[in-house]
Amino acid sequence: MGFYDDVKAAAETIAAAGNITIISHIDADGIASEAILSQAIGRAEIPHRSVFIRQLEPLTMPQVPLDTSFKIFADLGAGQQNLLEERGFSQHEVLIVDHHVSQPCTRQYRQVNCLPYGHGKMSAAGVSYLIAKAMDTANTDLAKTAIIGNVGDMMARETCGLVGPVRDIIVEDAVLHRNVEVHRRDLNCYGTATRPLYLSLAYNDDPFIRGISNNPEGAKQFLRRHGIRQQTKDGRWLVWEEYPPDDQKTIISALAQQLIANGEPVDRLLAETYSFPDEPVRTPLRNAQEYATLLNACGRWARPHVGSAILKGDRGSQYREAEHMLNNHRAVIRDLLGYILDTGVTELEWLQYIHVGAKYPDTIVGIGAGMALSKLNSAKPILVMCSVPEDPNLTKVSMRTTERVVARGIDLQQAISDASTAYGGGGGGHRIAAGAFIPKIAEQEFVIRVNRLLGEQAGAPGPDHR
Ligand code: C5P
Repeated sequence: MGFYDDVKAAAETIAAAGNITIISHIDADGIASEAILSQAIGRAEIPHRSVFIRQLEPLTMPQVPLDTSFKIFADLGAGQQNLLEERGFSQHEVLIVDHHVSQPCTRQYRQVNCLPYGHGKMSAAGVSYLIAKAMDTANTDLAKTAIIGNVGDMMARETCGLVGPVRDIIVEDAVLHRNVEVHRRDLNCYGTATRPLYLSLAYNDDPFIRGISNNPEGAKQFLRRHGIRQQTKDGRWLVWEEYPPDDQKTIISALAQQLIANGEPVDRLLAETYSFPDEPVRTPLRNAQEYATLLNACGRWARPHVGSAILKGDRGSQYREAEHMLNNHRAVIRDLLGYILDTGVTELEWLQYIHVGAKYPDTIVGIGAGMALSKLNSAKPILVMCSVPEDPNLTKVSMRTTERVVARGIDLQQAISDASTAYGGGGGGHRIAAGAFIPKIAEQEFVIRVNRLLGEQAGAPGPDHR
């Protein structure tokens, strides 16, 4: 059986189900997966409902209903099959739609997972889309949502654009459907629909451009020096997508010259990007990256259903609520970033860590960790711990690193899941970004163990060899 056989079998299983519960993750990819599956299932006239879960772990398992409905776990489940077994689910009532690493389990649930087939640059929304399309080819309008999920899950980051079947099948379907425009050689920069250009440039550090990155005033002067108009007549700051192609070319070539003058490579200056002509200009709905942030803001602040409603077309009260959450999300992340940088991290040989206590919700510390890393020593993975309000005996851990470090053999998913299991906790994720829950009393030992595991991954001799 190949991946597409699994996709087809899943589509048939879903079509035959009488009543379905979708259990999905609260991040952008989880919300996109849920929106795709629930629309495909709704169009097939199968009764269904959705439950969003922060993470599948013992604390949250009671949120998964014990009723007679068929359960689809989306963007989670592969790494937690033992929990499904403990909750008593049979193999006949579960389908897992995921892209995370599977954990061995005595009961093998039905699963559509792109990862074992070598599709490492596909997210759960990509898998969900392929299933939706196998259910009915009329579902190709949902390719746009799949692109948002994939971009939100960083599938385009390393390669400066989507690749593999996500690019060849899903992006192509979306282009044919005309609700997505592909920009093959666009500026590789965040905030191109909503941020004044100088701020987009200053907040971007991939690539890091000396004099511009982390330097709003420097970015403003750079644009002025190159004769680029930055404001409208009434003083509103222009965003990247508003600039005519000739201005965009001038800016890109000036940025390339700046990189070359600093002896830096230019290969990450351009990326393939995805914008949405059917959405209003200068809003976060206008491109895949900013849309994904909006969904993340909804999910991480306990309103994933709002994100889902927006993907299904709501532009009224739910959209206004999402805009409000996005502003709050940004403000709290800025605060968290400042807190990490002001407080400072503790450096061990193979990682750097900080405990932020109960100051920030556990759903956003990973995002803050990722942003802080680019301002710290990015050669060492960062580990952030925080309290879990629902359970004073638990600690949430988030880790982030860079593609460069992953290329050297570092695998955060493996380190965090090995170390957390050793203390009766549980975790997972990806090589570049992973998370876990651990017992609070094990915090110090846990950090030391992760440090040792990372050292082993980097080829350092373990304690037995010293
Ligand atoms: O929570 P955070 O943003 O740090 O999560 C990073 C990655 O780790 C995500 O892919 C998430 O699904 C995964 N994770 C996990 N188990 C946890 C926490 C996070 O698999 N307990």
